[in-house]
Amino acid sequence: MPIQAPESPGKRILLVEDEESFREVLQLGLEPEGFRAVTVSGVHEAKALLQGSTFDAVVSDLRLKDGSGIDLLVWIKGQGLETPVIIMTAFATTETTVQALNLGAVDFLTKTKNDLQELTKVLKGLYAVPQSSPPGPVSDIGDLVGVGDKMRRIQALVGKVAIADTTVLITGESGTGKEIVARLIHRYSERAKGPFVPINCGALPESLLESELFGYERGAFTGASAAKRGLFEEAQGGIIFLDEIGEMPLPLQVKLLRALQERKIRRVGANEERAIDVRIIGATNQNLRARAEQGAFRQDLFFRLNILHIELPPLRERPEDLPVLADHFLARFGQKLNKPTMSLTDEAMAALRRYTFRGNVRELENLMERCVALNSGGPIGVELFPDNILAETNGPQSVAPPQPCPLPEEGFDLEAYLNAYKGHLLRQGAEKCGGNRTKAARYLGMSFRAYRYWLQELGGLETLPPACPRPEDFPPKAPPEGEGDA
Ligand SMILES: Nc1ncnc2c1ncn2[C@@H]1O[C@H](COP(=O)(O)OP(=O)(O)OP(=O)(O)O)[C@@H](O)[C@H]1O
Ligand SMILES: [Mg+2]
Repeated sequence: MPIQAPESPGKRILLVEDEESFREVLQLGLEPEGFRAVTVSGVHEAKALLQGSTFDAVVSDLRLKDGSGIDLLVWIKGQGLETPVIIMTAFATTETTVQALNLGAVDFLTKTKNDLQELTKVLKGLYAVPQSSPPGPVSDIGDLVGVGDKMRRIQALVGKVAIADTTVLITGESGTGKEIVARLIHRYSERAKGPFVPINCGALPESLLESELFGYERGAFTGASAAKRGLFEEAQGGIIFLDEIGEMPLPLQVKLLRALQERKIRRVGANEERAIDVRIIGATNQNLRARAEQGAFRQDLFFRLNILHIELPPLRERPEDLPVLADHFLARFGQKLNKPTMSLTDEAMAALRRYTFRGNVRELENLMERCVALNSGGPIGVELFPDNILAETNGPQSVAPPQPCPLPEEGFDLEAYLNAYKGHLLRQGAEKCGGNRTKAARYLGMSFRAYRYWLQELGGLETLPPACPRPEDFPPKAPPEGEGDA
């Protein structure tokens, strides 16, 4: 991962430290320096987080309750992650220092009185280096990002499924990450060195799909001038990913079932069968069980496929993942488009929370790419969102239940307060419209004459209260003479 431009705000640091007070000192101290520290207390938790999301650096204590910073470093390198790792310890020895640096730690710091300054210096040093080479290609499989319970369970499940070497069925709406899960299973499986061969079963007519999957012999049909291996043979020793498997025509389902049960395939036009050693992963956004019950999909094939099932929840059911996913894509496209990592304004994030991503993570990903491409600097605001998102998110918003306005015990001067309040709103309206009085009058729903009248009446724009007035600042007047209690 290339190092990103220095000015990008909020570098995400994973801080692994079991001493709570030290963790807090570092976390609070790093924040004003532009580092957002996510803290965990052990190796185990750190690994879980690193599997689910990306960090700009890892800072780890050496001795932790459930392992050592060195174990974590080895694991990070073993995962192929290029996240820089800094080890910090109160128990430095030459041996551990050399060991950590040899294993690829970018630095090894001793906990001293100046540890915060030292760490800040090292972290800043990481990002102050100008990018000497153009950014490398963005990895084709990202990580499965998500921090909520639902995604955490899936991240763990993917790991278990990967090592099981059986057939897997992945279901979920379009754009929920079925393909990324299939690729991760391949990456972590014992077939990782073998091929990963994807095919979209819904994209080809039946005859073509058959010859694509199973291959054909010379002369099998007009135009078959030479024999051709099918994708099952291409995937030998690896994984075939049958995307949109629900679309597979029934006659081919029989052949697939045979491939699954017997581990054998027959090329079109061949007499003999060939043995295959291929793991099958199917994916669909359909309800395959229901389709099997309706007869549109073979029941026996469904049961064969459904041995291990991963169901990916739609994005709307895991709103807790929205900010990390958005950050993940912003960092990714910043890198791809050679721009600093951007962030969203609070207003933009709030709008995304109100929007229903029918295209799930893919739609969010596309939106973030658009925003990064269009944004010319600073945080990304709603003005970069397309009309359909604005139209859906501008509607009535859920707000906190209305609270009564707090009134002072001793009473107050309602007339004076209302005038001040009116003046404040007139001023706000003018500011909102960039000082343009015609627009401000329209914004406040009054004629220009009425607007001008009230401005004069209340003492002119500059004298109007800039902050929202409070009733207690307007003490009650004595009632006029002769108007006592009746
Ligand atoms: N949890 C996630 N973390 C990071 N990226 C994700 C995640 N889920 C999906 N994506 C990204 O969203 C895009 C869509 O994901 P993917 O292609 O895997 O979806 P799908 O379920 O196969 O969709 P479809 O049914 O339309 O084929 C991809 O670019 C993928 O990298
Ligand atoms: Mg897909």
